Amino acid sequence: MIHLLATGGTIAGEADPTAGGTRYRAGVRPVGALLAAAPDLAAFDLSAEQVLAIDSKDMTSDGWLAILAAVRRALADPTVDGVVILHGTDTLEETAYFLHLTVPAGKPVVLTGAMRPADHPQADGPANLLAAVRLAASPEARNKGVLAVMNATLHAARHLVKAHTTGLAAFESTLDWHDGQPDGRFADLAAAALPRVDILPGYAGAPAALIDACVADGAHGLVLALTGHGSVPSAWLPALRRAADAGVKIVRASRCTGPVVRNANADDDGEGWLTAGSLPPPKARIALMLALACGRALPSDA
Ligand code: SIN
Repeated sequence: MIHLLATGGTIAGEADPTAGGTRYRAGVRPVGALLAAAPDLAAFDLSAEQVLAIDSKDMTSDGWLAILAAVRRALADPTVDGVVILHGTDTLEETAYFLHLTVPAGKPVVLTGAMRPADHPQADGPANLLAAVRLAASPEARNKGVLAVMNATLHAARHLVKAHTTGLAAFESTLDWHDGQPDGRFADLAAAALPRVDILPGYAGAPAALIDACVADGAHGLVLALTGHGSVPSAWLPALRRAADAGVKIVRASRCTGPVVRNANADDDGEGWLTAGSLPPPKARIALMLALACGRALPSDA
């Protein structure tokens, strides 16, 4: 059996009646209605559960923990062969990577979504859902880490990014999914909440006061989404040293594709900074949140 976990997104979206047909609302249609709109799924043994019903721009770390709890329950059921998660595309790569780090190797876990709402005449959701169920039911998808499928293309969570704002082929990844490796290094996560980690963008004239503001507001970690090879603005150094002295963990990442090489163009060891390797800032943030929650060091290129 394949267990479906619905969380909302455009795949469950419908036209917004208050917007004159020009906009839609994500996360409106319940999972039962999505299944009814995909008759090809009748060939599969399925169960389904509505975990959340949100636009994924509103995803939170508590939302990730709710999804993880549902995934763990499903995977522990010996009658479940795999899990499919229906998710908004905007933060799909974040939830996918969070699960990649927290779900042990074994049964397939596959995310999918849609770029067109469920009531669109050429909705892409039913085909994406069918592809995701097929993949989750396939022995080939076992032990590959968390996977995603969109627009007939398969992706490994570690290497997946939403690269385009419109169009059905919105996702890209730098690795063939067949070469995906399972991770699950934080499968022992037991925290009821994750520590706050903020991302600070580097750009011409970026003010150092944002660093102090994040720390004063309760951040336990900062991921610096820096220019070039993770280049720290000189004007940021005093505030970063104040943050480090206050116990805040600092990760040097790049707004480019990467990688950020440790000690290559900054004194990471001297400053006590961590480095993101080739992880993009949103994924480096997730790795740091989990490392802090589990009381462990951030692995290089998590
Ligand atoms: C969302 O991320 O929930 C809305 C956008 C989408 O699913 O494409």
